[in-house]
Amino acid sequence: MKTRITELLKVKYPIILSGMSWISVPELVAAVSNAGGCGILATGVLKPEQTREYIQRTRTLTKKPFAANVTFYFPGSEKNAKVIIEEKVPVVNYSLGKGDWLSKEVHKYGGVVIATVTTLKHALAAQRDGADALIVTGYEAAGHGGAVTSLALVPQIVDAVNIPVIAAGGFADGRGLLTAFALGAEGISMGTRFMNTVESPVHELQKKLSIELSAFDTIYTDKFDGLPARMADTRGARRLIKRWLNPLSALFLSRKIANLLGLPWGKIFLGIMLAGPKTAIQMARMATGFKAFEVGTMDGDNINGILPLGQITGIIKDTPKVKDVIERIIKEAHEVAKQVEKKLK
Ligand SMILES: Cc1cc2nc3c(=O)[nH]c(=O)nc-3n(C[C@H](O)[C@H](O)[C@H](O)COP(=O)(O)O)c2cc1C
Repeated sequence: MKTRITELLKVKYPIILSGMSWISVPELVAAVSNAGGCGILATGVLKPEQTREYIQRTRTLTKKPFAANVTFYFPGSEKNAKVIIEEKVPVVNYSLGKGDWLSKEVHKYGGVVIATVTTLKHALAAQRDGADALIVTGYEAAGHGGAVTSLALVPQIVDAVNIPVIAAGGFADGRGLLTAFALGAEGISMGTRFMNTVESPVHELQKKLSIELSAFDTIYTDKFDGLPARMADTRGARRLIKRWLNPLSALFLSRKIANLLGLPWGKIFLGIMLAGPKTAIQMARMATGFKAFEVGTMDGDNINGILPLGQITGIIKDTPKVKDVIERIIKEAHEVAKQVEKKLK
């Protein structure tokens, strides 16, 4: 298969594993890259020394190209970015922030930069800031998808930029890959599908849940960490939405926040006192949201935790190996292309 994305990333198939905290770990990343796609190592919740260790572990598991992500919205992300640059990771993916300096540094060692965006404005800014490709994430996606569906968002951005686009949000099979191509994208990035694979470290109960839930069983809310995000509609998600936070909550949670930011508790306590009520509530939201995210993902606890999940969960009916997912997608895309061709006659 040949697209501008396979050429740019030097991979066999234009199929990307999205960067999912606690899930896109070296074993899953390497499984995707070894199967001909490109795995994105998630560094959002890692400390810099863990990021280095994870990159090095990925290198022992695959000789194929892989990526690492930087989520600028996450505390401590710039320190992780520096490690990624020092380690000369072949592909660097960034989101939720300005990537001009990052692009410059990654290009110095010959790396490739992919920006994740959800709006036309950010797509144009990322192109201007030196990104080599975009991941364009629509409303259907798990986690922080945009306000516009992939079907409407991808072609609009494809038409407006010169760099290749990878479509994300609502892709899980060969029909999806073919649709992405038809919309002008040159690859797909998947979270919900790869989360439910043999190699994925997500709790087994969550793999089962993703098979049971339909496209109608997710919630899109900004009450998780302050930005609109999609998750499975569970008791935990509803509790998280209803939780009552006031500026004092941040003081109660200041130890958790300090841990999250990797900063001394005293400094955080003082910072919250001075930050003003709006920022304090936002910090409290992030601290509780992240804890719920970890508990949901790793412990399979849907009462105290939450699970990011995309609407495409509705077509996911099994837990295959990563290699089988990728091979199935490629085979199906060819078959569907033939059927479409017949319909066009
Ligand atoms: C369980 C799970 C955890 C995720 N965690 C993150 C995360 O930590 N950071 C992030 O930027 N996106 C995260 N995402 C979103 C993905 O990176 C990606 O944008 C999304 O899954 C693509 O849409 P899809 O789910 O329809 O494939 C997560 C997705 C899932 C399913």
